[in-house]
Amino acid sequence: MATELLSPLFPQRQRGLAVVVAAPLLALLLAVVIFSRSPVAAPVSMTSPELVDLTLLAGAREKGAVCLDGSPPGYHLRRGFGSGAHSWLVFLEGGGWCNTTQSCSERKMTSFGSSKYMSAVNFNGILSNDHIENPDFYNWNIAVIRYCDGGSFAGDAEGEDLDGTKLFFRGLRIWEAVVDELMGKEMDAAKQALLTGCSAGSLAALLHCDNFRGRFPHEVSVKCLSDAGFFIDEKDLSGERHMRSIFNGVVQLQNVSKVLPKDCLAKKDPTECLFPAELIKSISTPTFIVNSEYDAWQIANVVAPPGDTWSNCRANIRNCSSKQIDVLHGFRREFIRELKVAEGERDWGLFIDSCYTHCQTQSSDSWHSPTSPRLGNQTVAEAVGDWYFGRRRLVKQIDCKYPCNPTCSSQ
Ligand SMILES: *[C@@H]1O[C@H](CO)[C@@H](O)[C@H](O)[C@H]1NC(C)=O
Ligand SMILES: *[C@@H]1O[C@H](CO)[C@@H](O)[C@H](O)[C@H]1NC(C)=O
Ligand SMILES: *[C@@H]1O[C@H](CO)[C@@H](O)[C@H](O)[C@H]1NC(C)=O
Ligand SMILES: *[C@@H]1O[C@H](CO)[C@@H](O)[C@H](O)[C@H]1NC(C)=O
Repeated sequence: MATELLSPLFPQRQRGLAVVVAAPLLALLLAVVIFSRSPVAAPVSMTSPELVDLTLLAGAREKGAVCLDGSPPGYHLRRGFGSGAHSWLVFLEGGGWCNTTQSCSERKMTSFGSSKYMSAVNFNGILSNDHIENPDFYNWNIAVIRYCDGGSFAGDAEGEDLDGTKLFFRGLRIWEAVVDELMGKEMDAAKQALLTGCSAGSLAALLHCDNFRGRFPHEVSVKCLSDAGFFIDEKDLSGERHMRSIFNGVVQLQNVSKVLPKDCLAKKDPTECLFPAELIKSISTPTFIVNSEYDAWQIANVVAPPGDTWSNCRANIRNCSSKQIDVLHGFRREFIRELKVAEGERDWGLFIDSCYTHCQTQSSDSWHSPTSPRLGNQTVAEAVGDWYFGRRRLVKQIDCKYPCNPTCSSQ
């Protein structure tokens, strides 16, 4: 049975419904019930899906590199070919976080907490092997690492479940052990590499970016790409810092400090240091940030958490009142302010569009298609490709205010 790589759920209810038809019902229902407030991925593409089998990590238990329930973690590896035979792309799956014993023990019963529930996935967008859909990376070796630790591949601790069994918070060990295994499968001979991910996996790509770079010789070109991982420490409508409370729970439960930048920890508490605005200050590897300045997950879950008056607006930005749009513009202002550090980095890239969406690289529709969002007449794929291969200088674009961009219309 195939599952879609990441269940597209709320806030895009319309798309969520469309997907019910295509995705296995059980997985989707579980995901909707359990992760209705979790950041998730882009819509599912229906074009030429390539199904890639699951590989379980060898020797996982001995290394203590296990999912929340103690099962071995998994990944999907598609070998490169032709001119891409020595190029490697590593993609970290997203899917929210669990920040309490309760939420982590619920997660154990899903593919986001146990490989017992994982199966083959379709590779689309930046993962696709079709050069029309994915002009620059289609023939690369591509490894998608499944997300089953609930803490952005960063934790290293153990906890106890409500029923007295163990809960494993071993994201950091999963990261290290899977990358080691890939190295043994010829990634160590890579001539170029890219670390990426979506949402919570994209935050993980930022956390591990320099570590990934450090695994290759100096002459190998290594870069990082963050898709919909730029979570900001914004207040919600009631003045609460909701994102901070999620991160705080993860920090308390999971012992994530080892991966956080030391210079940040010297000045601030670990929760603050988990925010990308802090993380990027210490990343020395060239990084590209793809994100909507009206990130649909952050708007729906952080700015305007579930509640009646916002439900239509959350579901479809076109249904927002002018007052609600003002709130969204406020989010955009703060978002752009927090990106300042990245704007100043010479080798970095930005694709910050105004389309109401979340995760744009691993769906064919938003990555590179005639109806994809564009900035400066470029798709995400073209901008990322130009930046990665140095075909153009200054690949940094920040969109104007919603609803200025006509290429967002497909949403
Ligand atoms: C926290 O993580 C560090 C580094 O991975 C590890 O050495 C330490 O034992 C962990 N602490 C706890 C309480 O698990
Ligand atoms: C966990 O996250 C939820 C949001 O999903 C938040 O409301 C809550 O305060 C957090 N709890 C802890 C203990 O961090
Ligand atoms: C948007 O509003 C229209 C008219 O009020 C309504 O018919 C439609 O269902 C709404 N769409 C969503 C996604 O809420
Ligand atoms: C935009 O890009 C498309 C395809 O890449 C090209 O055909 C078109 O001429 C471009 N339009 C403008 C205004 O540059």
